[in-house]
Amino acid sequence: MKYSPATERNPLPYSPFKACTVPRPIGWLSSVSRDGVENLAPYSQWQNLTFDPPMVMFSANQYPDGRRKDTVVNAERTGWFAWNMATWELRDAVNISAMALPDHESEFERAGLRRETADLSGVPMVADSPCHFECKYLSTHRLVGNSEVGTIDIVFASVERIHIADDALTPDGKLDVSRIQPIARMGYYDYTVVKDTFEMRIPGATAEAADGLEGAAG
Ligand SMILES: Cc1cc2nc3c(=O)[nH]c(=O)nc-3n(C[C@H](O)[C@H](O)[C@H](O)COP(=O)(O)O)c2cc1C
Repeated sequence: MKYSPATERNPLPYSPFKACTVPRPIGWLSSVSRDGVENLAPYSQWQNLTFDPPMVMFSANQYPDGRRKDTVVNAERTGWFAWNMATWELRDAVNISAMALPDHESEFERAGLRRETADLSGVPMVADSPCHFECKYLSTHRLVGNSEVGTIDIVFASVERIHIADDALTPDGKLDVSRIQPIARMGYYDYTVVKDTFEMRIPGATAEAADGLEGAAG
């Protein structure tokens, strides 16, 4: 099958589009409003952009009534948000934190999560998550879609501080993914959990290129 989303109806019962861009890492993002109300929400339209210096982005669809997502507004107004790694063990809390709660209600409380305070910004982070980034807001790029929900705010940020739990590391100093078990979004209501990895090295790659891929320090 094939179709043009701009001009033709999707012939399948569900859209294949998001199900093709898988697995998507989850930006489990915590932030605080200007009035001090804490916030936590998952964003699967989330990515690293570069590593020198480390920069990230997330894309937030507007609410159907045209309101912008709280995470976007908080990042713009306070200049900060934090990323928390979403893991298999924390999967139910990740899901609960996507609920649209009344303004005064905290997703941390509703999901029963312990907090740890970010060093640079005071943003609460998910204490039981093994990895955190403290992210400093850089800019927002708006793209107008076909509807309010289709309209997005893409937020760009630099990563100013990286936290990795000691027990999330292997003896040779790499992230122990089989122990952490990060979860990621698939299409529909589906998720996947990362337990297995395999290694490939580019034949004939220069030492510089190889170091870049491996993330060698220095
Ligand atoms: C796993 C998962 C991934 C999500 N990814 C996105 C996303 O990429 N963009 C988005 O706008 N909403 C996404 N949502 C929905 C938001 O989490 C939800 O609208 C949340 O209430 C937004 O909270 P906020 O307004 O406090 O930022 C996702 C939900 C789940 C469960």
